[in-house]
Amino acid sequence: MKIQRFSRIGFIMAAAGSAVGLGNIWKFPYMTGEYGGGAFVLVYLITIAFIGFSVMVAEMLIGALGRLDTVSSFEELAPPDKKQWKYAGFMGFNGIIIMTFYSVVIGWIFYYLFRLLNGLPSTTDKAKDIFNTLVGNEPGIQIFWHTVAVLIVGYIVYKGIKGGIEKINLILMPSLMAILFGLLFYAFTLDGFEKAFEFMFAPKWEKLNSEAIVRAVGHSFFTLSLGMGAILTYAASLPKNANITQTALIVTFMDTLIALVAGLVIFSFLFQFGAEPGQGPGLVFISLPTILKNFGTLGIFFALMFFLALAFAGITSAISLVEPVVQYLIDRFDYTRTKAVVVTSFIYWIVGIGALLSYTKEWGEMFSIGKKPLFDILEYTTDSILLPLGGLLIAIFVGYILHKDRVRAALEHEMGDRVFHIWRFSIRYIAPVALIFMMLNLMGIIKI
Ligand code: PHE
Repeated sequence: MKIQRFSRIGFIMAAAGSAVGLGNIWKFPYMTGEYGGGAFVLVYLITIAFIGFSVMVAEMLIGALGRLDTVSSFEELAPPDKKQWKYAGFMGFNGIIIMTFYSVVIGWIFYYLFRLLNGLPSTTDKAKDIFNTLVGNEPGIQIFWHTVAVLIVGYIVYKGIKGGIEKINLILMPSLMAILFGLLFYAFTLDGFEKAFEFMFAPKWEKLNSEAIVRAVGHSFFTLSLGMGAILTYAASLPKNANITQTALIVTFMDTLIALVAGLVIFSFLFQFGAEPGQGPGLVFISLPTILKNFGTLGIFFALMFFLALAFAGITSAISLVEPVVQYLIDRFDYTRTKAVVVTSFIYWIVGIGALLSYTKEWGEMFSIGKKPLFDILEYTTDSILLPLGGLLIAIFVGYILHKDRVRAALEHEMGDRVFHIWRFSIRYIAPVALIFMMLNLMGIIKI
């Protein structure tokens, strides 16, 4: 059914584009700030090395062997008596749930890019005001920029694997890296750099509580795009003879590197002017513009570059969140690509409006359940429950359901025996145990 295939470099860029997103540049720094730095970063790095990488190989493998959409790939690969595994493929729909708030945040970034052209706020209070007014009082402006985000992402997905997804990643990913490394070189020259380095890499163990550990593990999945079929769907269009292990290694490395660079850049700027790292989700929206104000006109340039990088990262991830459902509708229901994109985009556009309204003063109550705004419910459910659950299903499927010989054969030319055994051990034991542990902890059944 699939006729389009990525080129080798196109696939690497698309997978890296999916992984490197708002999770790296917006979320990783504020979480590191909130959970006190070094120790949080260490848990995140350990999870990526020992679980994230193995699960990524497993998820790519399902796509590369199945060659279809998420549901069909699981169904195709499951043994005849275990066809109910196809339901695991519905993890692809998480992408649409994530998109409901992801596209709202991309909308905020667009608004900032536009707003920054008029200069930067001079005090933190003013910066807070801009952010809080946008989120709390301006549903119309938010709906407008959310709609722009939906249309841009929809258009790229509509253009397909070769003409849209591969092309845009080949342009945006190198641009994003150039911008971030440019900012890093500048950050090197600041006194704040040393402090930033220490904050991120010298573990303060007393800050490491059970919540920090759970969040670090959950974030590793989010940031690597694991557990919802994004990587699986891309891998279904893998070029022939692609090296899965090597690609997973490159993607994991790039994703981690970019998160660390983004963290170093933001904390250098922050410490240079004595700002607070633990400010939560508003961190880059509120502190960065005020801090950069101190750099004069150069500051506006830095801010524009930074938010541009953030927009690029967000868009390349967003298309990978939408593509699995689009592919599913094309494969299973014979939709044309246009129809699939329109239907999918419409659903998350509407729910996304509910999500953004849930933060406004006027409509907040109507779009909240209990005291929880819809936005937070959508974010929490996907992030902390559905992605780890998806990761767990992938690990079990590749570790226990797929025949070992088939898995070995697929990775024959990529891994030696020893590496294969270590990888399989991680998939069969380390990843499931850690993920089950994490979920029980989340449900409050056990406490680490
Ligand atoms: N990895 C993306 C980020 O860091 C988010 C994402 C999650 C994308 C799951 C696809 C699938 O922002």
